[in-house]
Amino acid sequence: MIPITVVDVRDAEDLVVEVLRSGAIAQGPMVKRFEDAFAHVAGTKHAIAVNNGTTALVASLQALDLEPGDEVITSPFTFVATLNAILEAGATVRFADIRRDDFALDPDAVAAAVTGRTKVLMPVHLYGQTADMGKLAPIAAERQLKVIEDSAQAVGASFQGRAAGSYGIGCFSLYATKNVTTAEGGVITTDDDELADRLRVLRNQGMRARYQYEVAGHNYRMTDLHAAVGIPQLEKLDQLTAARQANAKRLTEGLSGTPGLDLPQVLPGREHVWHQYTVLVGPHAMLSREELSNALTARGIGNGVYYPKIVFDYECYQGHPLIPDARVEDFPVAGAVAAQALSLPVHPHLTESDVDQVIETVREVLGA
Ligand SMILES: Cc1ncc(COP(=O)(O)O)c(C=O)c1O
Repeated sequence: MIPITVVDVRDAEDLVVEVLRSGAIAQGPMVKRFEDAFAHVAGTKHAIAVNNGTTALVASLQALDLEPGDEVITSPFTFVATLNAILEAGATVRFADIRRDDFALDPDAVAAAVTGRTKVLMPVHLYGQTADMGKLAPIAAERQLKVIEDSAQAVGASFQGRAAGSYGIGCFSLYATKNVTTAEGGVITTDDDELADRLRVLRNQGMRARYQYEVAGHNYRMTDLHAAVGIPQLEKLDQLTAARQANAKRLTEGLSGTPGLDLPQVLPGREHVWHQYTVLVGPHAMLSREELSNALTARGIGNGVYYPKIVFDYECYQGHPLIPDARVEDFPVAGAVAAQALSLPVHPHLTESDVDQVIETVREVLGA
Protein backbone atom coordinates (compact mmCIF):
# COMPACT_ATOMS: atom_id res chain seq x y z
CA MET A 1 0.00 0.00 0.00
CA ILE A 2 1.23 3.48 -0.85
CA PRO A 3 -0.59 5.73 1.62
CA ILE A 4 -1.83 9.24 0.80
CA THR A 5 0.13 10.54 3.81
CA VAL A 6 2.83 9.26 6.13
CA VAL A 7 3.47 10.90 9.48
CA ASP A 8 7.09 10.52 10.58
CA VAL A 9 8.12 12.60 13.58
CA ARG A 10 10.77 10.27 15.00
CA ASP A 11 13.38 13.03 14.73
CA ALA A 12 11.59 14.89 17.55
CA GLU A 13 12.34 12.21 20.12
CA ASP A 14 15.23 14.01 21.84
CA LEU A 15 13.42 17.34 22.16
CA VAL A 16 10.20 15.70 23.36
CA VAL A 17 12.14 13.73 25.99
CA GLU A 18 13.86 16.97 27.03
CA VAL A 19 10.44 18.54 27.66
CA LEU A 20 9.17 15.46 29.49
CA ARG A 21 12.21 15.42 31.75
CA SER A 22 11.90 19.14 32.48
CA GLY A 23 8.47 18.62 34.01
CA ALA A 24 7.33 21.89 32.40
CA ILE A 25 5.10 20.52 29.66
CA ALA A 26 2.57 23.31 29.03
CA GLN A 27 3.33 26.54 27.12
CA GLY A 28 6.90 27.62 27.82
CA PRO A 29 10.32 28.04 26.19
CA MET A 30 9.81 25.35 23.54
CA VAL A 31 6.73 27.15 22.23
CA LYS A 32 8.79 30.36 22.03
CA ARG A 33 11.50 28.51 20.12
CA PHE A 34 8.92 27.07 17.74
CA GLU A 35 7.37 30.53 17.22
CA ASP A 36 10.74 32.09 16.38
CA ALA A 37 11.49 29.38 13.83
CA PHE A 38 8.01 29.70 12.32
CA ALA A 39 8.20 33.50 12.01
CA HIS A 40 11.40 32.97 10.05
CA VAL A 41 9.62 30.58 7.62
CA ALA A 42 6.67 32.93 7.14
CA GLY A 43 8.90 36.00 6.89
CA THR A 44 6.84 37.82 9.52
CA LYS A 45 7.77 39.69 12.65
CA HIS A 46 5.49 37.61 14.84
CA ALA A 47 4.28 34.03 15.04
CA ILE A 48 1.77 33.16 17.76
CA ALA A 49 1.38 29.43 18.37
CA VAL A 50 -2.08 28.14 19.24
CA ASN A 51 -3.70 24.77 19.76
CA ASN A 52 -5.01 24.18 16.22
CA GLY A 53 -5.60 25.81 12.86
CA THR A 54 -9.29 26.39 13.51
CA THR A 55 -8.61 28.39 16.68
CA ALA A 56 -5.94 30.32 14.75
CA LEU A 57 -8.72 31.50 12.43
CA VAL A 58 -11.19 32.15 15.28
CA ALA A 59 -8.67 34.14 17.35
CA SER A 60 -7.64 36.19 14.30
CA LEU A 61 -11.25 37.16 13.62
CA GLN A 62 -11.85 37.90 17.31
CA ALA A 63 -8.80 40.17 17.39
CA LEU A 64 -10.41 42.36 14.71
CA ASP A 65 -13.41 43.30 16.91
CA LEU A 66 -16.01 42.65 14.25
CA GLU A 67 -19.57 43.88 14.82
CA PRO A 68 -22.66 41.75 14.17
CA GLY A 69 -23.44 41.96 10.45
CA ASP A 70 -19.81 42.44 9.42
CA GLU A 71 -18.95 40.17 6.53
CA VAL A 72 -16.07 37.88 5.69
CA ILE A 73 -15.56 36.81 2.08
CA THR A 74 -14.08 33.36 1.63
CA SER A 75 -13.93 30.35 -0.65
CA PRO A 76 -16.75 27.82 -1.00
CA PHE A 77 -14.15 25.14 -1.79
CA THR A 78 -12.30 24.55 1.45
CA PHE A 79 -12.16 22.42 4.56
CA VAL A 80 -15.13 23.05 6.82
CA ALA A 81 -12.94 24.67 9.50
CA THR A 82 -12.74 27.87 7.43
CA LEU A 83 -16.51 28.23 7.55
CA ASN A 84 -16.89 27.06 11.15
CA ALA A 85 -14.32 29.58 12.36
CA ILE A 86 -16.18 32.49 10.76
CA LEU A 87 -19.47 31.30 12.25
CA GLU A 88 -17.90 30.88 15.70
CA ALA A 89 -16.59 34.43 15.51
CA GLY A 90 -20.15 35.58 14.79
CA ALA A 91 -19.40 37.15 11.41
CA THR A 92 -21.57 36.84 8.32
CA VAL A 93 -20.13 34.64 5.57
CA ARG A 94 -20.10 35.67 1.91
CA PHE A 95 -18.67 33.29 -0.65
CA ALA A 96 -17.01 34.06 -3.97
CA ASP A 97 -16.36 31.39 -6.59
CA ILE A 98 -12.91 29.91 -7.22
CA ARG A 99 -10.68 29.53 -10.27
CA ARG A 100 -10.06 26.12 -11.76
CA ASP A 101 -6.32 26.66 -12.17
CA ASP A 102 -5.42 27.30 -8.52
CA PHE A 103 -8.58 26.07 -6.74
CA ALA A 104 -8.63 29.39 -4.86
CA LEU A 105 -10.69 32.60 -4.80
CA ASP A 106 -11.32 34.23 -8.17
CA PRO A 107 -10.39 37.91 -7.74
CA ASP A 108 -13.18 39.06 -10.10
CA ALA A 109 -15.75 37.13 -8.07
CA VAL A 110 -14.34 38.63 -4.87
CA ALA A 111 -14.60 42.17 -6.25
CA ALA A 112 -18.25 41.49 -7.15
CA ALA A 113 -19.02 40.03 -3.69
CA VAL A 114 -17.77 42.99 -1.64
CA THR A 115 -20.56 44.96 0.06
CA GLY A 116 -20.58 47.93 2.40
CA ARG A 117 -20.44 45.48 5.33
CA THR A 118 -17.43 43.49 4.14
CA LYS A 119 -14.57 43.74 6.63
CA VAL A 120 -12.37 40.73 5.98
CA LEU A 121 -11.07 38.88 2.95
CA MET A 122 -10.13 35.30 3.80
CA PRO A 123 -8.46 33.57 0.87
CA VAL A 124 -7.70 29.87 1.29
CA HIS A 125 -4.37 28.69 -0.11
CA LEU A 126 -5.52 25.22 -1.06
CA TYR A 127 -3.30 22.16 -1.52
CA GLY A 128 -0.07 24.14 -0.98
CA GLN A 129 -0.35 26.90 -3.58
CA THR A 130 -1.34 30.46 -2.71
CA ALA A 131 -4.39 32.18 -4.09
CA ASP A 132 -3.76 35.00 -6.58
CA MET A 133 -2.47 37.44 -3.96
CA GLY A 134 -1.23 39.78 -6.69
CA LYS A 135 -4.86 40.62 -7.45
CA LEU A 136 -6.53 39.85 -4.11
CA ALA A 137 -4.26 42.00 -1.92
CA PRO A 138 -4.94 45.20 -3.95
CA ILE A 139 -8.72 44.53 -3.87
CA ALA A 140 -8.49 44.25 -0.07
CA ALA A 141 -6.35 47.39 0.19
CA GLU A 142 -8.69 49.46 -2.02
CA ARG A 143 -11.77 48.47 -0.02
CA GLN A 144 -9.98 48.62 3.34
CA LEU A 145 -10.54 44.96 4.11
CA LYS A 146 -8.35 43.06 6.54
CA VAL A 147 -6.70 40.01 5.01
CA ILE A 148 -6.73 36.75 6.95
CA GLU A 149 -5.05 34.06 4.89
CA ASP A 150 -6.18 30.53 5.59
CA SER A 151 -2.70 29.14 5.06
CA ALA A 152 -3.49 25.86 6.84
CA GLN A 153 -2.16 23.87 3.87
CA ALA A 154 0.53 26.27 2.69
CA VAL A 155 3.47 26.48 5.07
CA GLY A 156 6.47 27.60 3.01
CA ALA A 157 4.43 28.58 -0.07
CA SER A 158 4.90 31.99 -1.61
CA PHE A 159 3.53 34.38 -4.23
CA GLN A 160 6.18 36.32 -6.15
CA GLY A 161 8.62 35.70 -3.33
CA ARG A 162 6.27 36.82 -0.60
CA ALA A 163 5.40 34.06 1.86
CA ALA A 164 1.92 32.74 2.50
CA GLY A 165 0.79 34.21 5.79
CA SER A 166 2.62 37.52 5.34
CA TYR A 167 -0.14 39.57 3.69
CA GLY A 168 -1.92 40.58 6.89
CA ILE A 169 -2.80 37.79 9.27
CA GLY A 170 -1.75 34.25 8.37
CA CYS A 171 -3.35 31.16 9.93
CA PHE A 172 -1.62 27.80 9.72
CA SER A 173 -2.61 24.31 10.80
CA LEU A 174 -0.14 21.85 12.30
CA TYR A 175 -2.51 18.88 12.24
CA ALA A 176 -0.93 15.43 11.92
CA THR A 177 -1.11 15.25 8.12
CA LYS A 178 0.04 18.80 7.37
CA ASN A 179 3.44 19.65 5.82
CA VAL A 180 4.63 20.63 9.32
CA THR A 181 2.90 18.95 12.24
CA THR A 182 2.81 19.10 16.01
CA ALA A 183 0.01 16.44 16.12
CA GLU A 184 -2.53 19.20 16.72
CA GLY A 185 -1.52 22.83 16.57
CA GLY A 186 -1.80 26.12 14.77
CA VAL A 187 0.09 29.36 14.22
CA ILE A 188 -0.92 32.94 13.53
CA THR A 189 1.59 35.14 11.70
CA THR A 190 1.62 38.93 11.40
CA ASP A 191 3.90 41.96 11.17
CA ASP A 192 1.52 44.04 13.25
CA ASP A 193 2.90 44.51 16.79
CA GLU A 194 -0.39 45.59 18.31
CA LEU A 195 -2.32 42.73 16.77
CA ALA A 196 0.30 40.21 17.89
CA ASP A 197 0.02 41.55 21.41
CA ARG A 198 -3.79 41.24 21.35
CA LEU A 199 -3.55 37.70 20.05
CA ARG A 200 -1.13 36.67 22.80
CA VAL A 201 -3.47 38.10 25.42
CA LEU A 202 -6.55 36.50 23.80
CA ARG A 203 -4.79 33.13 23.69
CA ASN A 204 -4.28 33.21 27.44
CA GLN A 205 -7.80 33.87 28.78
CA GLY A 206 -7.43 37.57 28.03
CA MET A 207 -4.78 37.78 30.74
CA ARG A 208 -1.62 39.88 30.46
CA ALA A 209 -0.25 39.52 33.98
CA ARG A 210 -1.53 36.99 36.50
CA TYR A 211 -5.28 37.58 37.07
CA GLN A 212 -5.15 40.87 35.17
CA TYR A 213 -7.81 40.30 32.53
CA GLU A 214 -8.04 42.75 29.64
CA VAL A 215 -10.56 41.04 27.38
CA ALA A 216 -12.78 37.99 27.53
CA GLY A 217 -10.29 35.54 26.09
CA HIS A 218 -9.94 31.82 25.72
CA ASN A 219 -7.41 29.05 26.20
CA TYR A 220 -5.83 28.76 22.77
CA ARG A 221 -2.38 27.82 24.07
CA MET A 222 -0.02 25.33 22.48
CA THR A 223 2.06 23.09 24.78
CA ASP A 224 5.84 22.70 24.88
CA LEU A 225 5.34 19.00 24.17
CA HIS A 226 3.63 19.82 20.89
CA ALA A 227 6.14 22.52 19.98
CA ALA A 228 8.98 20.03 20.48
CA VAL A 229 7.41 17.73 17.89
CA GLY A 230 7.40 20.50 15.28
CA ILE A 231 10.81 22.13 15.71
CA PRO A 232 12.90 19.53 13.82
CA GLN A 233 10.50 19.71 10.87
CA LEU A 234 10.88 23.49 10.65
CA GLU A 235 14.64 23.03 10.68
CA LYS A 236 14.48 20.80 7.62
CA LEU A 237 11.42 22.26 5.94
CA ASP A 238 13.33 23.15 2.75
CA GLN A 239 14.33 19.51 2.31
CA LEU A 240 10.83 18.19 3.03
CA THR A 241 9.30 20.67 0.58
CA ALA A 242 11.89 19.89 -2.09
CA ALA A 243 10.98 16.20 -1.82
CA ARG A 244 7.29 17.04 -2.30
CA GLN A 245 8.16 19.23 -5.29
CA ALA A 246 10.29 16.52 -6.90
CA ASN A 247 7.47 13.99 -6.43
CA ALA A 248 4.94 16.40 -7.96
CA LYS A 249 7.20 17.04 -10.94
CA ARG A 250 7.63 13.32 -11.53
CA LEU A 251 3.87 12.74 -11.23
CA THR A 252 3.14 15.50 -13.74
CA GLU A 253 5.72 14.19 -16.23
CA GLY A 254 4.41 10.66 -15.88
CA LEU A 255 0.71 11.47 -15.97
CA SER A 256 0.70 14.09 -18.71
CA GLY A 257 -1.46 13.12 -21.65
CA THR A 258 -3.67 10.76 -19.61
CA PRO A 259 -7.06 11.12 -21.30
CA GLY A 260 -9.67 12.93 -19.23
CA LEU A 261 -7.26 13.93 -16.46
CA ASP A 262 -6.43 17.60 -15.71
CA LEU A 263 -3.16 17.83 -13.82
CA PRO A 264 -2.45 20.45 -11.15
CA GLN A 265 -0.54 23.51 -12.31
CA VAL A 266 2.18 25.55 -10.70
CA LEU A 267 1.18 29.07 -11.72
CA PRO A 268 3.87 31.61 -12.64
CA GLY A 269 5.53 33.27 -9.67
CA ARG A 270 4.10 30.83 -7.16
CA GLU A 271 6.09 28.47 -4.98
CA HIS A 272 3.85 25.41 -4.59
CA VAL A 273 4.58 23.27 -1.53
CA TRP A 274 2.34 20.38 -2.59
CA HIS A 275 0.33 19.63 0.50
CA GLN A 276 -1.79 17.66 -1.96
CA TYR A 277 -1.33 16.66 -5.59
CA THR A 278 -4.88 16.99 -6.88
CA VAL A 279 -6.03 15.96 -10.33
CA LEU A 280 -9.43 16.69 -11.87
CA VAL A 281 -11.15 13.66 -13.32
CA GLY A 282 -13.11 15.12 -16.22
CA PRO A 283 -16.19 13.78 -18.01
CA HIS A 284 -14.06 12.27 -20.78
CA ALA A 285 -11.98 10.06 -18.50
CA MET A 286 -12.58 6.32 -18.82
CA LEU A 287 -13.66 6.14 -15.17
CA SER A 288 -15.63 8.49 -12.97
CA ARG A 289 -13.83 10.08 -10.02
CA GLU A 290 -15.39 7.52 -7.65
CA GLU A 291 -14.51 4.59 -9.93
CA LEU A 292 -10.93 5.82 -10.26
CA SER A 293 -10.66 6.24 -6.48
CA ASN A 294 -11.97 2.70 -5.89
CA ALA A 295 -9.72 1.20 -8.57
CA LEU A 296 -6.65 2.87 -7.06
CA THR A 297 -7.56 1.75 -3.55
CA ALA A 298 -8.03 -1.82 -4.79
CA ARG A 299 -4.54 -1.67 -6.30
CA GLY A 300 -2.91 -0.31 -3.16
CA ILE A 301 -2.64 3.35 -4.13
CA GLY A 302 -3.90 5.67 -1.41
CA ASN A 303 -5.99 8.60 -2.59
CA GLY A 304 -8.44 11.11 -1.16
CA VAL A 305 -11.23 13.47 -2.09
CA TYR A 306 -10.61 16.94 -0.66
CA TYR A 307 -13.43 18.09 -0.70
CA PRO A 308 -16.50 16.27 -2.03
CA LYS A 309 -18.96 19.16 -1.82
CA ILE A 310 -19.22 22.92 -1.65
CA VAL A 311 -18.44 23.72 1.97
CA PHE A 312 -21.90 24.98 2.96
CA ASP A 313 -23.82 22.29 1.05
CA TYR A 314 -24.79 20.32 4.15
CA GLU A 315 -28.05 20.14 6.06
CA CYS A 316 -26.56 21.77 9.18
CA TYR A 317 -25.79 25.00 7.28
CA GLN A 318 -29.14 25.31 5.48
CA GLY A 319 -30.88 28.50 6.48
CA HIS A 320 -28.06 29.50 8.84
CA PRO A 321 -28.58 33.16 9.71
CA LEU A 322 -24.86 33.93 9.26
CA ILE A 323 -24.81 32.36 5.77
CA PRO A 324 -27.47 34.41 4.00
CA ASP A 325 -28.22 34.00 0.30
CA ALA A 326 -25.66 31.23 -0.32
CA ARG A 327 -26.85 29.03 -3.18
CA VAL A 328 -24.85 26.12 -4.54
CA GLU A 329 -25.70 27.05 -8.13
CA ASP A 330 -23.96 30.42 -7.75
CA PHE A 331 -20.58 28.67 -7.47
CA PRO A 332 -20.31 26.58 -10.62
CA VAL A 333 -16.53 26.31 -10.63
CA ALA A 334 -16.36 25.19 -7.00
CA GLY A 335 -19.19 22.72 -7.68
CA ALA A 336 -17.44 21.21 -10.71
CA VAL A 337 -14.09 20.97 -8.94
CA ALA A 338 -15.69 19.33 -5.88
CA ALA A 339 -17.15 16.68 -8.20
CA GLN A 340 -13.86 16.00 -9.98
CA ALA A 341 -10.99 16.46 -7.50
CA LEU A 342 -8.90 13.46 -6.48
CA SER A 343 -5.63 13.70 -4.57
CA LEU A 344 -2.77 11.27 -5.12
CA PRO A 345 0.22 10.56 -2.84
CA VAL A 346 2.91 13.28 -3.02
CA HIS A 347 4.31 13.22 0.53
CA PRO A 348 8.07 13.40 1.12
CA HIS A 349 8.43 9.78 2.22
CA LEU A 350 7.67 8.33 -1.22
CA THR A 351 10.49 6.71 -3.16
CA GLU A 352 10.86 7.29 -6.90
CA SER A 353 9.60 3.78 -7.45
CA ASP A 354 6.50 4.54 -5.32
CA VAL A 355 5.81 7.57 -7.52
CA ASP A 356 6.29 5.48 -10.64
CA GLN A 357 3.87 2.91 -9.29
CA VAL A 358 1.26 5.62 -8.72
CA ILE A 359 1.77 6.84 -12.30
CA GLU A 360 1.64 3.38 -13.87
CA THR A 361 -1.47 2.40 -11.93
CA VAL A 362 -3.38 5.59 -12.77
CA ARG A 363 -2.44 5.27 -16.45
CA GLU A 364 -3.37 1.62 -16.55
CA VAL A 365 -6.80 2.00 -14.99
CA LEU A 366 -7.58 4.99 -17.21
CA GLY A 367 -6.53 3.08 -20.32
CA ALA A 368 -3.64 5.43 -21.17
C1 LIG B 1 -8.02 24.89 4.65
C2 LIG B 1 -8.02 24.54 6.11
N1 LIG B 1 -8.42 25.47 6.99
C3 LIG B 1 -8.41 25.23 8.31
C4 LIG B 1 -7.99 24.03 8.83
C5 LIG B 1 -8.11 23.79 10.31
O1 LIG B 1 -6.96 23.34 10.91
P1 LIG B 1 -7.00 22.34 12.17
O2 LIG B 1 -7.45 21.02 11.68
O3 LIG B 1 -5.61 22.36 12.66
O4 LIG B 1 -7.96 22.92 13.16
C6 LIG B 1 -7.54 23.04 7.96
C7 LIG B 1 -7.02 21.77 8.47
O5 LIG B 1 -7.37 20.70 8.31
C8 LIG B 1 -7.57 23.29 6.55
O6 LIG B 1 -7.17 22.37 5.68
